Amino acid sequence: MSWHPHLWHPTTQVATSPEPLRVARGRGCLLELQDGRQLIDAISSWWVTLHGHGEPSIAAAIGRQAMELEQVIFANFSHAPAEQLATRLAALIGLERLFFSDNGSTAVEVALKIAWQWWRNQGSDRRQVIAFEGAYHGDTFGAMALGDRSIFTAPYDELLFDVARISWPHTHWGDNGVEQREALALEQLEQALAVPTAAVILEPLIQGASGMQMVRPGFLRAVQERIRAHGSLLIADEVMTGFGRTGALFASQRAGIQPDLMALSKGLTGGFLPMGVTMASERLYR
Ligand SMILES: Cc1ncc(COP(=O)(O)O)c(C=O)c1O
Repeated sequence: MSWHPHLWHPTTQVATSPEPLRVARGRGCLLELQDGRQLIDAISSWWVTLHGHGEPSIAAAIGRQAMELEQVIFANFSHAPAEQLATRLAALIGLERLFFSDNGSTAVEVALKIAWQWWRNQGSDRRQVIAFEGAYHGDTFGAMALGDRSIFTAPYDELLFDVARISWPHTHWGDNGVEQREALALEQLEQALAVPTAAVILEPLIQGASGMQMVRPGFLRAVQERIRAHGSLLIADEVMTGFGRTGALFASQRAGIQPDLMALSKGLTGGFLPMGVTMASERLYR
């Protein structure tokens, strides 16, 4: 086994990393390597495999659909599976409109574009976007700009637009300082919102990529209250938290917030296919 001469692996320093493990097949939470060893996929292949590897019902549904229609241009055409998904997700999430894209980053980009254009359509010049310290929203340029800066974004810094950055008062059992940190973050948010703000984006309840940093539901409700008071929009990036990861189907529901826009991917296809959707309120669609 060695590094393949033609593959380029993401977030991997080839000079210092061990050679990749070659996977032959997956079933449930187990991966079988080509040399016969079995591993537990404890990261669900970067949080996408919510239903396990090789889940037969998903494989069969994809097979059936592929024999009928694999895809069709979506401008001026529609089809029953898309309508079914939109109807079901709208009812589950309480955001009426579904826009398709192809991964978590683009679902976030679409949310930002919808928010931005919504203000432009109304002749408003709201330009500021607010995001949180430690946030990760993806690796396309807009998503990178929204995420906190890191060694992965450093080479592109001059291409990334500015956002106002608020501290993320993550907490843990026995944390005595959380109230103080929440108050500080809310104060920073109030100050930032004094500048006309197009949207605020956050990962509800838990930031994944920055190391499972959890905030309390009450903090998110207080954030939402302030956003509403300033007439701005709330974008929930549920690419990681969506589809049951926090106990409720969506972390926003568990936290008791109702965003204006929601980005979804990962669990949406259980890792079988790349797909993202952005859910938007009817108000924004209109
Ligand atoms: C919260 C969050 N947003 C966006 C993304 C980007 O998703 P993708 O890798 O599908 O572009 C991720 C990926 O880990 C994520 O965790």
